[in-house]
Amino acid sequence: MKEGTKKKRVMVMIGTRPEAVKMAPVIRALIKHRDRFDVTVLSTGQHRALIDQTLAVFNLCPDFDLGVMTQRQSLNDITSGVLRAMTAYLQMESFDIVLGQGDTTSVMAASMACFYEGISFGHVEAGLRTGDCRAPYPEEFNRRVVGITAGMHFAPTPTARDNLLREGAVEDKIFLTGNPVVDALHFILENTEEPSRPVPKDKPYILMTCHRRELFGERVLHVMEAVRDFAMAHPQIHIWYPVHPNPNVKSVAESVLGSTPNIVLSPPLDYVSFVHAMKSAYLVLSDSGGVQEEAPSLGKPVLVLREVTERPEAVAAGTCLLVGHDRERIVFELDRLLHDKSAYAAMSNKRDTFGDGHAAGKIVDAILSSSFS
Ligand code: UD1
Ligand code: UDP
Repeated sequence: MKEGTKKKRVMVMIGTRPEAVKMAPVIRALIKHRDRFDVTVLSTGQHRALIDQTLAVFNLCPDFDLGVMTQRQSLNDITSGVLRAMTAYLQMESFDIVLGQGDTTSVMAASMACFYEGISFGHVEAGLRTGDCRAPYPEEFNRRVVGITAGMHFAPTPTARDNLLREGAVEDKIFLTGNPVVDALHFILENTEEPSRPVPKDKPYILMTCHRRELFGERVLHVMEAVRDFAMAHPQIHIWYPVHPNPNVKSVAESVLGSTPNIVLSPPLDYVSFVHAMKSAYLVLSDSGGVQEEAPSLGKPVLVLREVTERPEAVAAGTCLLVGHDRERIVFELDRLLHDKSAYAAMSNKRDTFGDGHAAGKIVDAILSSSFS
């Protein structure tokens, strides 16, 4: 660095588990350039427990916590809590740029706070779209808002970049970087061993996750009933379901699945355990966004509990298949992948769909070579 060049003050904001996974490689890459950046990691605390659990895996912890989480929080609770607390924090400190990832309500509200305070916001995982503002709900709305407020867009794929261009984002503010989730995945695979697991080593298992707001109510019930139907018909297969702490899902999972012998409900897994659980699973059943991105890198079939996805690349790659929330359809597709070996093999190819594992470095390079706006 030239003598007299001022360090850039960068805030990395994180609200939930997937943000911690995906921003951890970016934080680590920023810290490598400590002669150029002063880095502050701020947690909104939207996920009180899951953020700290996830960051710890990467030897990181937040410098500051806005502590917004409440039990059964509403979207209004999160939006107003983050907007108010983030604005106060931004007025206390002076940042050159704030970085946030994805489509959570924390990210949406933080990007608005930056917009109001005239601070540049860099959006990691920019440009994902389903085209339907209510699916997934409220994530599609959130990411569209961030698309308007952000001054730098880090698009993971050409499709995401094209979505931003179509919406009128300035071309030289869009950077095609890949998704740092692949960097995070490589970090775990290269640096850790498989921890012990609560399902038998010598038997196949299906790994499951489920948490989306648009499933709450009848739909989540249908999903759980489908899983119970399948498990009861196939006692030789285990289902391992680390249950998200959201009470709207947890209570249904426990009441419908709690007493089936070959279904193991566990607390949320730390990221090391979850990556190895995906790697060793026969297949994954999930409504998660991040899991759809990790699956192609692992060559692991995912039946996606959604009607639409903002990650069409994972479907095109062949590793992900949308199965929605219909009870019979879910059981049918689980059955098919269990018995039809060629259908299973067709979904088990490894692909670099979401990046080569060097997204964080590309994001940091773009920031280094940019004047923010
Ligand atoms: C949130 C995001 C969603 C993202 C998901 C990742 C929004 C609106 N939703 O959904 O986009 O895919 O995180 O997991 O931004 N809880 C705890 N401890 C925790 C976390 C959650 O007890 O560490 C419980 C609380 O009762 C909380 C509830 O779960 O009120 C729901 O959390 P919330 O962040 O609103 O929704 P998620 O379903 O986690
Ligand atoms: N994950 C984890 N432990 C779990 C379940 C998921 O570490 O018990 C990881 C998963 O590998 C992915 C991220 O959390 O990287 C996805 O989080 P989630 O499904 O909660 O959110 P989404 O990606 O749908 O926004």
